[in-house]
Amino acid sequence: MFVTAIDLGSSQIKGVVVDVKRDGTVVAVKTIKKKSGGIKKGEIVDVEEAVKVLFEILSEIKHFDKKCIKNIVFGISGSKSKFLVSRGVISIQRPDLEIISDDIDRVIKESLAINFPPGWQIIHSFPREFIIDDIEVDDANVVGLSGRKLEANVVLIAIFSSIYKNFTKMTNLVLGKKADIDGSLIFNPMAGERAVLSKSQKELGSALIDIGFGTTSLSVFQDGKIFSTKVFPIGAGNITNDIAIGLKCSIKTAEAIKITSGCAFSKDVSTKEKIDLSQFEEGQSKEVSKRYIAEIIEVRVREIFSLVNEELKNLAKSQKLPAGVVISGGGSKLQGILDLAKEELRLPAQIGLPNLSEIESSHAQITNELDDPEMVVACGLALQKVDNLKKEGPFRFAQGSNYLISEPWYRKIIKLFTPSED
Ligand SMILES: Nc1ncnc2c1ncn2[C@@H]1O[C@H](COP(=O)(O)OP(=O)(O)OP(=O)(O)O)[C@@H](O)[C@H]1O
Ligand SMILES: [Mg+2]
Repeated sequence: MFVTAIDLGSSQIKGVVVDVKRDGTVVAVKTIKKKSGGIKKGEIVDVEEAVKVLFEILSEIKHFDKKCIKNIVFGISGSKSKFLVSRGVISIQRPDLEIISDDIDRVIKESLAINFPPGWQIIHSFPREFIIDDIEVDDANVVGLSGRKLEANVVLIAIFSSIYKNFTKMTNLVLGKKADIDGSLIFNPMAGERAVLSKSQKELGSALIDIGFGTTSLSVFQDGKIFSTKVFPIGAGNITNDIAIGLKCSIKTAEAIKITSGCAFSKDVSTKEKIDLSQFEEGQSKEVSKRYIAEIIEVRVREIFSLVNEELKNLAKSQKLPAGVVISGGGSKLQGILDLAKEELRLPAQIGLPNLSEIESSHAQITNELDDPEMVVACGLALQKVDNLKKEGPFRFAQGSNYLISEPWYRKIIKLFTPSED
């Protein structure tokens, strides 16, 4: 069975096609990387443009094997998103007081009966903790336990309706109106961690920071569970713009300078080292010190980390994540980023690469392409989708321990509470 994961990034669409073998092994058979269109700051703003690019990608995938399109999952992002935890409470009235799966449906339904602002579409809802008769239960599966009162802290993730509408328009156009997109959409900050954070990092307390082109997303974990997520509308594309303004050069030159000679930690860069702009752009004759370029970059990267730190402060997690931060996304490839992260956030920091012990590759070339912090979300999407398919039962493997994302029974409930999309 094939699963295709597509990360709809603001600058590039990244994807991976995996073959899920009968024994549960996940083998990457194809990777995708293409300049994106119609996506700005993680949001689909021009459906036609986005469809054009996606059509090309899907025909390339179909050419590889038509079956790849059957199980497809898209990652969606954007700062117009909300993360909240809602409490549902029900009483168990059967004489034996045993909790059955209908009770789980009921308690989630209760948690959804909150004053959610209109104009937002819930895309994920899953119980994070269960409390039976005021005692928190560690087990994620409470069916079969007994009690008089069942409570659940349910995580709700919503995106602004216009973004969701554009997403469904796009999938209708590329996959056909009848395509079942239930479970085909995962919020990017919820996907990446699956490929990069270990159980112990999530247990101890850690955060994943994905620095993309137009956005930086933050996902915080504690006690093995998601604690919060947030997307900021700022990313590595802003650094390029700053360099273009600072050096009065084209965006193309600024991007090349950032990638070949940029550094986020200016203290480490000598003032004596110079770069000749003529090697990047005709008509430019200036020489600039690498230190000056690093200073431009550092200001912007500090701004990104200070936004992250502000949010950590709001969550009372600033300097309080024992397993530190893991940084992924194209922006994490900037030289000196870890030193700056450690200084700004006062936490241990490391670069996040997809954990390839869970994804084998059909060729060494694919391993090389996946071994890249830009591919974290695509790999996470594929692994999450595989987890969900395993739970739905077409396979006979043991169940994974991941989120109950977009499970059909939750979906049914969500639909009761959200307006239909037309
Ligand atoms: N070696 C590098 N050094 C510095 N920056 C880099 C490097 N490689 C890529 N980048 C930057 O990473 C960004 C693209 O990263 P990525 O593909 O993760 O973004 P995206 O997913 O398209 O955007 P978003 O997640 O914001 O929607 C670009 O701004 C690019 O300049
Ligand atoms: Mg991205």
